[in-house]
Amino acid sequence: MAKILLIVGGGIAAFKAAELIRLARRHGHEVTPVLTAGGAHFVTAMTLAALAESPVYTSLWDLKDETEMGHIQLSRAADLVLVCPATADLLAKMAAGIADDLATTLLLATDKPVYAAPAMNVRMWLHDATQANVATLRSRGVTVIDPTEGAMACGEYGPGRLPEPADILAHLFRHPGPDPGSRFFPEEQRQEAESRIEPGMTSKQADLTGKHILVTAGPTHEPIDPVRVIANRSSGKQGFAIAAAAAALGARVTLVAGPVALPTPPGVARIDVETADQMLAAVESALPADAAILVAAVADWKVDASPTKLKKSAGPPQLSFAPNPDILATLGSHPDRPRLLIGFAAETDDLLANAAAKRTAKNADWIVANDVSGDVMGGASNHLHLLTADGTEDLGAGSKEVLARTLLARIAQDLA
Ligand code: CTP
Repeated sequence: MAKILLIVGGGIAAFKAAELIRLARRHGHEVTPVLTAGGAHFVTAMTLAALAESPVYTSLWDLKDETEMGHIQLSRAADLVLVCPATADLLAKMAAGIADDLATTLLLATDKPVYAAPAMNVRMWLHDATQANVATLRSRGVTVIDPTEGAMACGEYGPGRLPEPADILAHLFRHPGPDPGSRFFPEEQRQEAESRIEPGMTSKQADLTGKHILVTAGPTHEPIDPVRVIANRSSGKQGFAIAAAAAALGARVTLVAGPVALPTPPGVARIDVETADQMLAAVESALPADAAILVAAVADWKVDASPTKLKKSAGPPQLSFAPNPDILATLGSHPDRPRLLIGFAAETDDLLANAAAKRTAKNADWIVANDVSGDVMGGASNHLHLLTADGTEDLGAGSKEVLARTLLARIAQDLA
């Protein structure tokens, strides 16, 4: 496991450094945080110390006693240095070799692989000065992790967002730094991690050109009366990420979406539905498909809805429920059954046993098992297992986007 020296720069994304520490610790890594003066405006040393279970270093003068822990020793005791978030200012200082505080002094003194995860306003990121600094740093062997694109805290849109902490950690596994010997991750562990992260994305097999992929996502809403529904906590994020990953591999994608407020991924044909009955009708109308990935959290029951609004004065309503169609099971025995039929199993208990039972009961080829006992519903990251006729595979933990790409690469291999 790696010893990570984490330099937290000053930017709104500094709060994500806290989540990164939590995740890294959960994976068994040690984290020693260094908080810049700017970073301390966004996150406290106390928070970082509590999550890292380590002292947090903030000033060169904390390290005055060179016999105890000098700055050279601090930078060399780590296996790697990660700057997260790396501000435009920090990148500029790194490129210019300025050492005017603890963080920049450590960065100049280290002999370990250095990673930088920039996060800043889109115009600052795209500025020639920043791009030139990034190019300089890359030419010197610093791994600069590209920021992602999206709406920014400052109200603008574009590249400049810090990637999800899980993706940043995954990056450390994937790119073991300029030293090919990879001192901080044993080769076996590195290969295993690499095989999970976008496996095959650059290989010839990961191509879905000419294939039709059908995806369901989000919750369903079952009306009680004209204004009320029974809903669930599904955000649709995992299903949308899967549809996006399929389109990115060249597939024709139909996404049948329950009520969610997510943007349609580029290249995806979306059909919006509300109820389970509507979802089934939309799914059947989209057949045939080479693969169907049913990620939606379909309500098991529908209500015999009142045509008029139920009044409070009438007292607690007596709702009468009827079963909804099971879309996955319907496709499992459909004359137009997709060649590869994949269900999701959201479980809080007995994850793998329940998922295996669903695979056979619904005649699915694969079930992706999803432990929803934590904050998965609505959250940005996930941990998935893949159950096939051949057994169970841990697809790993990561952001919903990274896991979607991992799953789609497996699907592309299977359909090839
Ligand atoms: N599913 C479906 N139609 C339903 C219910 C579920 O297509 N009416 C699909 C989901 O999209 C998912 C899989 O079946 O791919 C398993 O869903 P899940 O809610 O975990 O299973 P249930 O069969 O509803 O079982 P339970 O709620 O008892 O766990």
